[in-house]
Amino acid sequence: MVTREAPGKINLHLRVKGLRADGYHALESVFLALDWGDTLRIDVSKGPGACELFRNCLLPLGELPFPPEQDLAYRAAVLFRAKTGFDRALRIELDKRIPLGAGLGGGSSDAAAVLLALDQLAGTGLSRAALGALAEALGSDVPFFLSPGAALVYGRGEEVIPLEPPGNIRVVLVNPGFPQDTAGAFRLLDAERGRGWPAPEELEPETLVKALAGPPALWPYGNDFLPLFLERGPGEAAEAYGAIILRLKALGAEFTGLSGSGSTCFGIFTNGGAADRAVKVLMEEWNFVRITFPLARSGNAVLQ
Ligand code: C5P
Repeated sequence: MVTREAPGKINLHLRVKGLRADGYHALESVFLALDWGDTLRIDVSKGPGACELFRNCLLPLGELPFPPEQDLAYRAAVLFRAKTGFDRALRIELDKRIPLGAGLGGGSSDAAAVLLALDQLAGTGLSRAALGALAEALGSDVPFFLSPGAALVYGRGEEVIPLEPPGNIRVVLVNPGFPQDTAGAFRLLDAERGRGWPAPEELEPETLVKALAGPPALWPYGNDFLPLFLERGPGEAAEAYGAIILRLKALGAEFTGLSGSGSTCFGIFTNGGAADRAVKVLMEEWNFVRITFPLARSGNAVLQ
């Protein structure tokens, strides 16, 4: 049996550039993997057989709304088997802690963890490019999780440039309790940009990289979805994101943001005491609040 952690992530920065011919948007993003997430255990039988996925729902935000066969972890196993011919019976157990539709990359991280674990268990030794192609076929955020740490991310998500994760910061996550549909958020952005909603200036890679080594209070990062939701989004999202961000700032967060296309907001603290106090206050107001750290680039990532 192999056990693998599937870390969550936040986007410290997320600029949505143009709509591409394939229907995806070109991105400019800074991803940060977190020292918190889901756990997978994978058992391989000696003989051939089916793949089964059992999920333990440890989520504070309700049940899993779709069957195991639609889970990205299961689809990753099916794709790996189809591409490599690996046909042994598989049992995958998934402890699900990362809320769904939360912008924290839970499903994507599970899928990457399955690909890495199966490559190891099957002894296939797939190249970086081969694993990357499988990851990309499963979703835009999956390639990042093949070697989670901090990264600059471009393309539709497949161009991943590793960075040194920032030390000495606490990340406080606050989810308002409703999911955000990613495709819907991109559609809203396209529609509003069609009506003149401005696209912010892109930042140079050097600027993005240098900033990460400096104090969070000076980060030039931003998320294009946040001002959009605050001004043009559905009332529920505008209200919740506005209230959480304001509260995080008042509680001493040196940087605040929205992860992915929502629905999780986060605050970055360099003062551990302030972060702990913020968590206590926020837990009175929101039912999903977590404090965590950046994940040090994982030693068991086979791709460097
Ligand atoms: O790749 P993934 O399945 O995670 O993407 C979900 C949806 O998000 C896509 O169908 C697309 O509408 C949108 N998306 C996008 N541009 C990206 C990533 C996602 O438009 N770079």
